[in-house]
Amino acid sequence: MLPTKEEAERILEEAEICNPGLWGNHSRIVAECAKKLAIVCDDLDGEKSYILGLLHDIGRKFGIKHLGHVYDGYKYMMKLGYDEVARICLTHSFCNQKINCYIGNFDIAELEQKELETVLNSLTYDDYDRLIQLCDCLASGEGIMDIEERMKDVKRRYGSYPPEKWNKNLELKAYFENKAGNDIYVLMRKTDK
Ligand SMILES: [Fe+2]
Repeated sequence: MLPTKEEAERILEEAEICNPGLWGNHSRIVAECAKKLAIVCDDLDGEKSYILGLLHDIGRKFGIKHLGHVYDGYKYMMKLGYDEVARICLTHSFCNQKINCYIGNFDIAELEQKELETVLNSLTYDDYDRLIQLCDCLASGEGIMDIEERMKDVKRRYGSYPPEKWNKNLELKAYFENKAGNDIYVLMRKTDK
């Protein structure tokens, strides 16, 4: 189940009051990026992509956390019955579907980590999971960035970037460029106007 676009916007606004930060704008940029890309791919829904992008980081409502934001977002959306969003709160951080590839602190209890892992292993990724992973990688808190520059920036801030994750993100970019039949940055600029 999914919230409406209006409900998703309301949920994000409310969350930003609890924990203000750049993450709110980042979420809106991911949402716009996902919608633009979905529209040019024949088999993806623009509005659904927008809603998923808008709420992928909603776990940040509950404070400044690393892996904790994944867990909090997943639980929060499940509690509201929005299982399709809950899934994205989880999958957006693991493009290789492996919990160990997470960049940042493992700031949740062992049992909670096991819970995430069990759900993660039970999923078969679809194009919505892939789309939000890619858009998350393209969007900073200010706009769309060159994907390699964005990954370099993460590498600088966290000290390392797993090569398999790096390569997977480039693979995702190529996958959607092929699907859309165009360069991703050309697409973002084109539909901006
Ligand atoms: Fe994000």
